[in-house]
Amino acid sequence: MEKTVNAQRRNLILGGAALAATAGLPRIALAADPIKVGLIVPMSGPFASTGKEIWAAVKLYQQLQGDTVAGRKVEVILKDDGGVNPEITKRQAQELVSRDKVQVLAGFGLTPLAFAAAPVATQAKTPMIVMAAGTSVIPQRSPYIVRTAFTLPQATAPMATWAARNKIRSVVTLVADFGPGIDAEKTFTKFFTEAGGKIVENLRVPVRNPDYSPFLQRVKDAKPEAVFVFVPSGEGAALMKQYNERGLAAAGIKMIGTGDVMDDELLPAMGQAAVGVISSHHYSAAHSSPENKAYVEAFAKANPDMRPNFMSAGGYDGMHLLYEALKKTNGDADGDKLLAAMKGMSWTSIRGPVTIDPNTRDIIQDIYIREARMVNGQVYNVEIDKIEQVRDPGV
Ligand code: DHB
Repeated sequence: MEKTVNAQRRNLILGGAALAATAGLPRIALAADPIKVGLIVPMSGPFASTGKEIWAAVKLYQQLQGDTVAGRKVEVILKDDGGVNPEITKRQAQELVSRDKVQVLAGFGLTPLAFAAAPVATQAKTPMIVMAAGTSVIPQRSPYIVRTAFTLPQATAPMATWAARNKIRSVVTLVADFGPGIDAEKTFTKFFTEAGGKIVENLRVPVRNPDYSPFLQRVKDAKPEAVFVFVPSGEGAALMKQYNERGLAAAGIKMIGTGDVMDDELLPAMGQAAVGVISSHHYSAAHSSPENKAYVEAFAKANPDMRPNFMSAGGYDGMHLLYEALKKTNGDADGDKLLAAMKGMSWTSIRGPVTIDPNTRDIIQDIYIREARMVNGQVYNVEIDKIEQVRDPGV
């Protein structure tokens, strides 16, 4: 009898414990759920190299660091937006948030595409890590945007100052006619003029199906000492080819620009023609830190036909930012908590020391002046000067 009562009591107690466990279940299940990241990049179309570099870097990050952080698996859902239609990017962002229930959006190969997704991030209170697009104003489009790429004014201002200091007195600017190009043009004009240089002409080339030839002819006719160029990642080789074919190099008109033109992925194909070009940027595959040497080696091993470029750096650091933020929140992927954890974060990136500015949510980083040189039979952007901890100067 005693035994039975005890057994009954035990059952009651166990029953209670079981109930308590059930009540706790949703939370336990939530903690074990994967964190989903919607990665939207161009994997096809004219800007496919941007998506491929970012995707390679994201995969490499997870291969090296594991796919679990703070007890939660991080699952990346890749979407190819084709790179040219903001409506497609926006729809993909909406679907990722509402149907796939992603807690983080990432990628964004071009400025108009980042603009298109920004309201989705705001409405869903979802962090949006901009890994590629570089127009200054982007983070102002949503309080949920954090950028691990760079900004065109940030890369351009040091180039303008360097040019003026190195006895280049007259320049024609030649930029792709959209957000980042216009930022680059305005910034170069402002800083170069302030340093005593003369802008002969500002030329803008269409983004879609560009033919650089007539523009380069105008540059040649204007006879500046240098042409400052910005074209989106992947376009540099075509520009370089026409620059040489039009005889600008032969005419003694130097090419200078942001590192977008001297994209690491394109340098092997550009070959000797690229040697001597001076550019300014935040990342070079030739950056000689132990972190970057390990990265370049691991990247080449995983992707034998590719060289990591600055787009890959944006992707790799974007993943790092997310992983470190999740460590700080103990795996809580609440949008506001992740944002708070990301703001002000500093780390040693493959590009050098970086910080997410807690006020602007943009990346503060060193900008390097690089000269394209032959290194062991391959062209690299060799860093020859460094401007430390540059913030977006705005324009
Ligand atoms: C942007 C795109 C690029 O390919 C690049 O190199 C820089 C900026 C952009 O659209 O913001």
